[in-house]
Amino acid sequence: MWDHVIRGGTIVTATEEAYEADVYIKDGKISAISIERLPGKVTEEIDARGCCVLPGLIDIHIHSRDPGASHKEDFYHSTQAAAIGGITTVFEMPNTNPPINNVENFHKQVDNLEQKAHVDFGVWAICLGRLNSEDLHPLNKAGVIGYKFFWGYAVNSKTFQLVYNANEKNDEVIPPFKDGEVYEIFESVSKTGKVLAIHAESNDIIQYLTQRYESSDHNDYNALLQTRSNLAEEITIQTGISFAKKTGVRLHILHMSTEEGVNLVKAAQKEGYNITSETCPHYLFLNNEDYNKIGSAMKVYPLVKYKKDQEKLWKGLEEGVISIVCSDHAPHTEEEKSGDLWSIPAGMCGVETLTSLMLDAVNKNRLTLQDLVAILSENPAKQFGIYPRKGSLLPGTDADITIVDLNKNSVIKKENLHSKSKITAFDGFELKGTPVATIVRGQMIMKDGKIVSKPTGKLIKPSNDNS
Ligand code: DOR
Ligand code: ZN
Repeated sequence: MWDHVIRGGTIVTATEEAYEADVYIKDGKISAISIERLPGKVTEEIDARGCCVLPGLIDIHIHSRDPGASHKEDFYHSTQAAAIGGITTVFEMPNTNPPINNVENFHKQVDNLEQKAHVDFGVWAICLGRLNSEDLHPLNKAGVIGYKFFWGYAVNSKTFQLVYNANEKNDEVIPPFKDGEVYEIFESVSKTGKVLAIHAESNDIIQYLTQRYESSDHNDYNALLQTRSNLAEEITIQTGISFAKKTGVRLHILHMSTEEGVNLVKAAQKEGYNITSETCPHYLFLNNEDYNKIGSAMKVYPLVKYKKDQEKLWKGLEEGVISIVCSDHAPHTEEEKSGDLWSIPAGMCGVETLTSLMLDAVNKNRLTLQDLVAILSENPAKQFGIYPRKGSLLPGTDADITIVDLNKNSVIKKENLHSKSKITAFDGFELKGTPVATIVRGQMIMKDGKIVSKPTGKLIKPSNDNS
């Protein structure tokens, strides 16, 4: 009668008191959660005694580089890493080659990813201003999870690739969009009803401050921080919030790294605007002082800032100003990451270590396990229109389940990561609390740190498509 029963675990959701019960699964859906044994034959029993049973965790922000830079990472590896990390759904970022800028590329991408996906996935679309404004509505109908705008990045006019070093003088490079064109993006996305997520850093400010520093002899992390400063994030979030107020777009601030950002989002939320934000483990567990120990592995954009920012981000999380924690998984190879701090690319692995780092924080009483379920599962699902299918343990919904052992210790070792490139700022971190099983639509994908299934992940489309 039942395909699987998860026995004896502690059920943890975002809102209820934790309680011990069995989870009954049939045809990939949750059938029942019961404190009493239900009659009927069971095909497979999963012993979860001593562990906690959570709605499947979601990482809304990963860059698998697939297609386009699969020497760094691909979806096969990134979703294995996700499953090992207890993640049942990922949202793949659109800065691939080709990028996800139109429906044709979206469909090709879904075909590509579906063959490699160990977990379910949503796909972001990219906003390229007037280069693809006509494509945004069709992309909505096709089922993208949301729209991403890399504010402050230049774009290659032929390949539409982002240009990370935007001061290059080159005919093929379209400079970062001016505010008017960005405002148009906000207007266009507002008509879709979907989320517009922004990378919020001002290229103007960064360029200006970089020129100042080029003439000085400073060359360390703190000098870099002077150039990609808090101000660059602050003014972009500020403008973004103003545009959102005017256009009504559902604005989401990606990888927030500053105190100023938290203050701005909090103020907008207080005024009643549905503006949301996320942060990542590197901003929560590191600050500039860690650079001496960790080195260039911790270079990400936006940069990891100061202790005061780190503390404010935790406060923002506690207050609900920040409602999601995600990895910004963005691998580069060891070779690419070695060399001069100013010229190496930004980004590191994260999808595999996200859950353990947050579980360790639960053990250190920085948040409750209920809070963790909210920020890694329920809030992402609700904000992106896939709740309750994802992000809940309600009967009738997808049997996506993450089983965690709060008492199991682990050490992050870069060589053990499942990604192709193995750059992490957290190498050597000793953590308490580990995901021990990942179940997607009733199927066990990871058990005790091992992948136990072939790729069977599927595209997830949001329901609020307004089309
Ligand atoms: O650190 C980063 N890496 N920040 C970004 O915005 C992009 C990402 C990447 O794709 O490498
Ligand atoms: Zn990113």
